[in-house]
Amino acid sequence: MYKADNISLYAHLKNVPLFNSLTNEQLKILFEAGITKNFPKERIIVYQHDPGDTFYIVVTGKVKITLLNEDGKEIVLSLLKEGDFFGEMSLLDNETRSASAVAIENTTLFLLTRIQFHKLIATYSDILTKIFKEICARLRHANEKIESLAFLDVYGRTIRLLQQLAHDQGEKTKNGIEISHAPTHKEIASMVGASRETITRIIKVLKENHTLVSYKGRKVILREHTNKLFI
Ligand code: CMP
Repeated sequence: MYKADNISLYAHLKNVPLFNSLTNEQLKILFEAGITKNFPKERIIVYQHDPGDTFYIVVTGKVKITLLNEDGKEIVLSLLKEGDFFGEMSLLDNETRSASAVAIENTTLFLLTRIQFHKLIATYSDILTKIFKEICARLRHANEKIESLAFLDVYGRTIRLLQQLAHDQGEKTKNGIEISHAPTHKEIASMVGASRETITRIIKVLKENHTLVSYKGRKVILREHTNKLFI
């Protein structure tokens, strides 16, 4: 790896929320312990049910956490972006990978081995706390997903998902709440358990009733106060 790449990786790691309490010296040691790896778009990074020995941090790009069945149907559990991590579960419980992880853009990851990961959480208790907090947040999301699969129809689930995205990553603009890295129609379909065609129809309705201001590529603008209308 070139020096310039090293500098930019270091800058990225400095911005990873998990590491923001580390001093420069501690970060340098961590940086030298791990390796970076590039994954082209669509490349599978980990397979569900495989044994797991690596912890991953997204340096740049995007990763989907997904469950695939034998017919090729998938349900997307989560979309991870720069600064997010995955692969901690099999390192903590010694079970196989709970889901697959796939690069959905050209993605660079920072990798730590099982031993390095355990050393990290044994040395820095606040990093362990942050990992537990994130696991709690993921469990809460999973509970909401179970609730909406059981109690809401596809229309309601789509709105619920857009509200969650707006809450987690939305930014207030003069036009409404903007989500700049939204899932595509196909990804939304896999997240709410519907076909892409159904989602395209629902998005059309949401535009017509002005719940959605626009939905272009990965950029979505939701009307403000959408929450009050539906929940
Ligand atoms: P692991 O089981 O080692 O490998 C797959 C990873 O996907 C897992 O660790 C978590 O990091 C991540 N993962 C599994 N389930 C979810 C979920 N519901 N939401 C977000 N991430 C998840």
